[in-house]
Amino acid sequence: MNVLIINGSARKKGYCNYIANSLKSILESFNSSNNNINVEYFNIPDSNISFCKGCVSCCKDENKYCFINDDVQKAYVLMEKADSIIYISPIYESFISGILKNFFDRTNHYTSFFKLAGKPLNLILTGVQPLDGETKEFSNSHVVKNINDYFENYSIITHTHFNYLGFFHHLNHHTEKNEGDEKLFRLEILRIAKEIASQKIDKEMIEKSKNNYSV
Ligand SMILES: Cc1cc2nc3c(=O)[nH]c(=O)nc-3n(C[C@H](O)[C@H](O)[C@H](O)COP(=O)(O)O)c2cc1C
Repeated sequence: MNVLIINGSARKKGYCNYIANSLKSILESFNSSNNNINVEYFNIPDSNISFCKGCVSCCKDENKYCFINDDVQKAYVLMEKADSIIYISPIYESFISGILKNFFDRTNHYTSFFKLAGKPLNLILTGVQPLDGETKEFSNSHVVKNINDYFENYSIITHTHFNYLGFFHHLNHHTEKNEGDEKLFRLEILRIAKEIASQKIDKEMIEKSKNNYSV
């Protein structure tokens, strides 16, 4: 099984990076003679990725690739190879990070033309507000719901299976790692890793996605 983790945090070594590396090492620990899990990690803040120019040249390209020759080209290869993709994003101003949204803009048309079809599309979120704080202003439940709605719609376009894997409360956003209970963190990462390891590509969905459309 090929798993691709994509970190959408602007901080190279922040909490999202910590979650990504923890997940990677637990998934790799599942490897045995009859269970082969290969994990690739694409760290957006470590990559050279320009902003989408809005030129829509990807619409005209045969493979729907963006013409800008930067690290998005590497991401295409990894995404095609993956059996399961996990996005990790911090909540920024009540949405996913700008660099992750830009990543979706840059892979627009490529993803809409069914290169991801049938694959599980997973999401992990982090935020400094708890899910249920004392007021809505200091809570994240409604934010998480809005982001899930966005991914649900994205999964319809990409013909993927969207799975929301969970939210990690970042108790102090000045720290790179969390100050919470490390044992509970490990248990949650283990739960998520087990869920990912059981995922499969939906071949029927790939077939259904082949009714092409043009733009
Ligand atoms: C520009 C910016 C906006 C943020 N907005 C929110 C927010 O709306 N809600 C929230 O819960 N946390 C917010 N945060 C906090 C981050 O989501 C949180 O600290 C996250 O764990 C950071 O991930 P990182 O350590 O990988 O950078 C924001 C942080 C930044 C830098």
